[in-house]
Order: sequence, then structure tokens, then C-alpha cells
Amino acid sequence: MDSWSLEAFKKPYLKVGYIEKIEAGVFEVGESISELVIESQACDALIETVQHLRDPDSEKWRSLIESDVGGEVSDLVNHFNEVGLVRESSPEHTLGGKNSITSDSMAEAKDALQKTSFDDRKLSIALLEFVNNLHTASVRTVLAESGNVYVRYIKLVFLCWAVTCQPAVTVGKKLLQYLSGYDDKVSEVEYSAFWAGELRKCLSVLVWLLNKSQKTDTRHVDFPALHIDEVDSGVNLAVRLERWGLDYMECVAPSQYQVALAGTGPGREALIAASYAQEYYITDRFVDLISPAISQRLPRPLKKLARRYYMEEAGHELYELKTCKALGMSETELHSSLPTPFGQLVCDIYTYLASKELVAYFAAATITEGLPGQVNLLNELSASNNRTPLFNKTSRKHESLNEKLGHQYISRIMLAEVGELGVEEQQVAANAYALLLDLNIRAWEQLYEFHVVLEMPAINYRMRDYIS
Ligand SMILES: [Fe+2]
Ligand SMILES: [Fe+2]
Repeated sequence: MDSWSLEAFKKPYLKVGYIEKIEAGVFEVGESISELVIESQACDALIETVQHLRDPDSEKWRSLIESDVGGEVSDLVNHFNEVGLVRESSPEHTLGGKNSITSDSMAEAKDALQKTSFDDRKLSIALLEFVNNLHTASVRTVLAESGNVYVRYIKLVFLCWAVTCQPAVTVGKKLLQYLSGYDDKVSEVEYSAFWAGELRKCLSVLVWLLNKSQKTDTRHVDFPALHIDEVDSGVNLAVRLERWGLDYMECVAPSQYQVALAGTGPGREALIAASYAQEYYITDRFVDLISPAISQRLPRPLKKLARRYYMEEAGHELYELKTCKALGMSETELHSSLPTPFGQLVCDIYTYLASKELVAYFAAATITEGLPGQVNLLNELSASNNRTPLFNKTSRKHESLNEKLGHQYISRIMLAEVGELGVEEQQVAANAYALLLDLNIRAWEQLYEFHVVLEMPAINYRMRDYIS
């Protein structure tokens, strides 16, 4: 970190309400009472300068910050900085600015919903009821529910946002209130440390899910059940889930996404770019979401492994970012665009699990890391039939580093440290594993729908773009 110098302020001013000359060559200053005694040969001139510097628009600030000449004034102001008498008059993200981003996002969400035929007031009221009682629900309870899968996803995202982005719960609730016929213009959003732009991304997911909840989900997988009827060790659970995952993949319909990625048909270029944009988004968040697991009171060996896992992952998002750049996408474009709804859902659920369901989180980590012996199909298929097959060389580096670090064994490595698990605990992990496996497949197949079927560009900026 850099120290907090005067240059770190956007527009500083002196918060000095008390200035009193005591005698010749001596004066006292402080925020509201005397805190510092200053001696100076040029006492009167120094007092005058201090008075000027209480104004953030004073010309003296510029000369003070831009010229690195030391001197009495500079020393004094640097001392004021140390003791906290220099303050900021122009914070980068004002509350007004944040509220304006949020109200624009709400307007955009309402506008995008108008493009759909969504008018399910009954569902909005039921979801509002769920959000009002969020503290009584959990991913466990929602996974045990049946019915419309998109309604369950809506419940899951609210549970996730309560962990990953609390103000998104408030704005999501406001949208549901609007759809229920009670427009809440009164309650305010408490942003805490969150950026208002993230709320917009969350609203985009909600709008998309609400629209989807009105359509029939054509995806049906006849998933073989995993029989769990006795206490078993964590490592055995990890191994069983790996094998179960492979069985599941056999049951899933052939991937249209993979066929398009391997082919030469229209939309392939956008599909490849969108795939790496999604890979970057997931990798960028995957690093951080290990942290909630680390922060818990785990057994020493497990904590050490989780810390090591974090350190081994840190910086890996740059491999994917470089590939995105090679495909013509800038970092700013990637961060100002709206990530795909399923991509966001996958990351939010992982984060929730890393905070609330550790066994399930470690069990499911290999879904993103890849299973032992599996190749990275994105790297493999996107490079075939490509004029510049080395465009993804940094992603390939990431892939081989992943192998070298043994990350395909991460579930076994972590769960070997948790000892035996009861039947219910194993069942919860299996349910979460199935959910993430399915969401992960949906996330990639969604790219096929967006970029090949609907011929959308690689990255998208408006909530409307995702409404089909
Ligand atoms: Fe990695
Ligand atoms: Fe990894």
C-alpha cells in the first residue's frame, strides 16, 4: 500500500475550526478546540495560510500539492494530515451519485420488463413474502422445494445477495414491490462499501429470471440419484460426487454449445469471445470466494489448505483477461458490460456456499476446476478451426498451471480434512453439487443461445439485450 499523502485526496481542505494566536510567534489550532501548539517566526503569515486552506477551492492547495518544495507550510500541512485535520471535500462516489445510478438501473429494469409479457402479480407478492422472511430460509430449504426452476433460482439469488451484496436485496425487493402494485419510493438503499453498478448487474439477473419464470423450462435431465444412507468420510464423498458428476454428464443432452465451438458456423467468433469473457468473469470472482471459507474457525490443517488454495489462485484471472484482450475486449468493456445471468448465478451460489455450506463448497469446487483427467474443452475446441490458434495461450497456461497445482483434486484434498460426515450433511453437499453442475452447464449453453441462435455480440450492456 502507499501511505495516505496529500496527493491521495481529490479535493482536500483543513478541518480547523479553532485558530488562536497565543503570543508573538505562537498559535494554537484544532478541529474545534486547541489540539496543537505551533511556533513560527512567520506566525501571522502561517495563520493566514491555514485560514485559506480551510477552503477546498483555495489556490494555495494546488501549489502545495504540485510543488514538492518543503518549507514550513508544507511540513505543517503534512502534520495536519497525520493527525487527521485534512479532510476530503469531493468524495469520488457521492451518495447522490450512487442513488442516481440505482434509480437509472431501476428504470432500466422496469423498461426491460415492459419488453416482456411479465405481469404475474401473484408471483411477485409470493416472492416479496419470501424476501421479507429471508432469515428463515436457506439454500437447503430452497433446494428441497419443487416447482418452477426459475422461481427457485430467484429465491436462491436473494439468499446469495444477503451474503454477497446486501443492498441488492433492497433494490430487488423494491422491484418486486413495484410489480406487486406497491411502489416503495421511501426506503433508502444502504450501500455500505458496495458499488451501485453491482446492484445494476444483480437487477439484470432478477429481470431475466422473472421473464424466464413465465416460460416453460424445456431442460429435463433424468439424473441418476446418489444413494447416501450411511456415515462416510469427506474424501469418499468427494470421490463419489466426482463419479456422480461424470454419470450426470452422460445423461445431459449433447451440448449444442460444444458443437458450435468446434465448428465453423455463423456466430462462432462472438461465441468464443463471450466464452472467454465468461471464463474471465468466473475466474475473477472464483479467487475471492475462497476467502469466506478461510475466515471461518476451521481445523488448522484445513485452514492452512484453504489459505494455500487462495494463494495459488490469486492473480489467475489475469490469464483469462489476457486472452480476452487478445480477442479485442478491453478490461473496461468487460467490467462495464452485464455478465450473463447464469454466469452471475454460478458465482453468487459458490460464494454463498463458501460462507454457509463449507462441505458443499469444497465438494463443488471441482466443477469449475475440472475433474482429474478432464481437458478444458473451451481451450481445446475454440483453438480448432481458428486462424490464430495461439490466441488463448495464456488461458492454456492457466490450464496447465491448474493441473500442476493439482486443483482437479481440490475437493478430495479439502474434504479429506473434514473427517466423517452424517447422511444429511452429505445429501446437502450432493444437492448443491447437482445444482452447481447443472447451472454451470446452463451457463455455457446459454452462450450458444445468445450468440449463435440470437446472434448477439460477444459482450452486452443493457438488461434488454438478455431479454428474449
Ligand atoms: Fe486458477
Ligand atoms: Fe485452480
